[in-house]
Amino acid sequence: MAGNRNLHRANREKNDEFYTQLADIENELKHYTHHFKDKIIFCNCDDPEESNFFRYFALNFEHLGIQKLIATHFDAEKPTYKLEIDRELDLNLDGKIDFADIQRIPLQQNGDFRSPECIEILKSADIVVTNPPFSLFREYIAQLIEYEKQFLIIGNQNAITYKEIFQLIKNNKLWLGNGFNSGNAYFSIPDYAIHQYAKGVYDEHSGLVKFRNCHWFTNLDHSKRHTELDLWANYDPEKYPHYDNYDAIEVSKVKDIPKDWQGAMGVPITFLDKYNPEQFEILSSNDFRKNEDVPFKAHGLIKDKDGSINGKPTYVRILIRHKR
Ligand SMILES: C[S@@+](CC[C@H](N)C(=O)[O-])C[C@H]1O[C@@H](n2cnc3c(N)ncnc32)[C@H](O)[C@@H]1O
Repeated sequence: MAGNRNLHRANREKNDEFYTQLADIENELKHYTHHFKDKIIFCNCDDPEESNFFRYFALNFEHLGIQKLIATHFDAEKPTYKLEIDRELDLNLDGKIDFADIQRIPLQQNGDFRSPECIEILKSADIVVTNPPFSLFREYIAQLIEYEKQFLIIGNQNAITYKEIFQLIKNNKLWLGNGFNSGNAYFSIPDYAIHQYAKGVYDEHSGLVKFRNCHWFTNLDHSKRHTELDLWANYDPEKYPHYDNYDAIEVSKVKDIPKDWQGAMGVPITFLDKYNPEQFEILSSNDFRKNEDVPFKAHGLIKDKDGSINGKPTYVRILIRHKR
């Protein structure tokens, strides 16, 4: 059917099909193991037969003390199914809960994370862990927040600058996880998508694509978030110019944050990788406008030509201040 073909093409063109490696999941999830005990974990953007998220939790079900694991399969066009592992259901009666205890349960709907059926599962779950479609990231996060869920998900770093996401970050309702090894995230992709990636992104030997712009987003606490950033630099008016439009100084490298400047500072978004809310507070740029002519920015970042210094624009900046 032409309609179905168009739908398939639309899904493909959104570039949402890339699959997380087990090693990357293990590398991040090891920082949160204490969060999963007695919890219901939901992977709601995962083909459970293929997903390494489902595999990770199934493999570690006993070790993490999980109560229940649920993963739903999405198909744009037809009803699908979910896989579940339940601590109370030792199907093969061998005294342990593992892959042998997986139940396959049909869904009435298509596994869309927004479908009423998946929302009911979401309501019953404690923690959502997955790599959702990047094209639906705003909507995806909004749903997790609406249902007050804990989560650990992968997203594009650019999402930090979306107004909805930055407000959550600023209000300490969402933060970055530990991150991929050296910032490199590797994903497998379907064959049809190979031509969509430039040389250097797709590696034909490994069959994987490498993205440098992905990060983990979470509201689960982890120790890196409480690690103090060591600071060495002192304020020097020559090195730290003021913005034309904001009462704040420009700090172009996170490592150069001056330890003795008590006012607002504009830093690159890479700062969030080092952000410890006990050490710094994140500010809204709107509260530091020098005059009424500087436009209000719904996102609260310093962005575009309004972030100029002596008429020269800078990159996107987050305003921060020392807490003590
Ligand atoms: C970036 S891929 C990641 C897949 C898997 N979570 C992983 O990490 O390997 C996002 C997945 O979400 C699925 N997806 C797309 N739209 C969805 C929707 N509305 N509801 C649920 N899943 C969806 C896609 O089919 C795709 O496989």
